[in-house]
Amino acid sequence: MVKLNSLILALAAAALFAAPQTIRADHHEGHGEGAPPLPTEAVAVLAPTEGNNVKGLIMLTKKDGYVHVWGEVHGLTPGEHGFHIHEFGDLRKPDGTSAGGHFNPDGHDHGGPGDEKHHAGDLGNITAGDDGVAKVDIKAKGLHLHFTVGRSIVVHAGKDDLKSQPSGDAGPRVAVGVIGIAQSK
Ligand code: CU
Ligand code: ZN
Repeated sequence: MVKLNSLILALAAAALFAAPQTIRADHHEGHGEGAPPLPTEAVAVLAPTEGNNVKGLIMLTKKDGYVHVWGEVHGLTPGEHGFHIHEFGDLRKPDGTSAGGHFNPDGHDHGGPGDEKHHAGDLGNITAGDDGVAKVDIKAKGLHLHFTVGRSIVVHAGKDDLKSQPSGDAGPRVAVGVIGIAQSK
């Protein structure tokens, strides 16, 4: 009798653990009914990392075959600055390093956006004028907008040489912002 009781208990426990998984699997099938639509526009408000004064507003708009990344960054030193999508939307460290490395779902080497293979997050450089303002207007191919949401945009103190591994030797992070779904107008 003792053995039978423990068998029943074991079966009941197995059923308890199995049941939620079955339900969850159903919910995960495809992008089905009841699922919200995929975002078509996202926004990142860039704030300075500790000791810096760089700010910006970047929009990401889904287009046919690319994502249009556009906006402005202020407070830069004149010249080129590395500009990337980094893996995490995690701003817990004041120097921005908690955003992780470049967003790289395909396991490629670092490169420039014009190279055949590069990190999906490699957006190259932005260029600030003498006023410290950089206008951003980038067509990012091979990027899916919905996979960027929850990650971050990072602006660097220096220029991305588009070849040094793993991140173009672009120096410290001067501004960072989390990519979120934009409210449609
Ligand atoms: Cu970067
Ligand atoms: Zn990279």
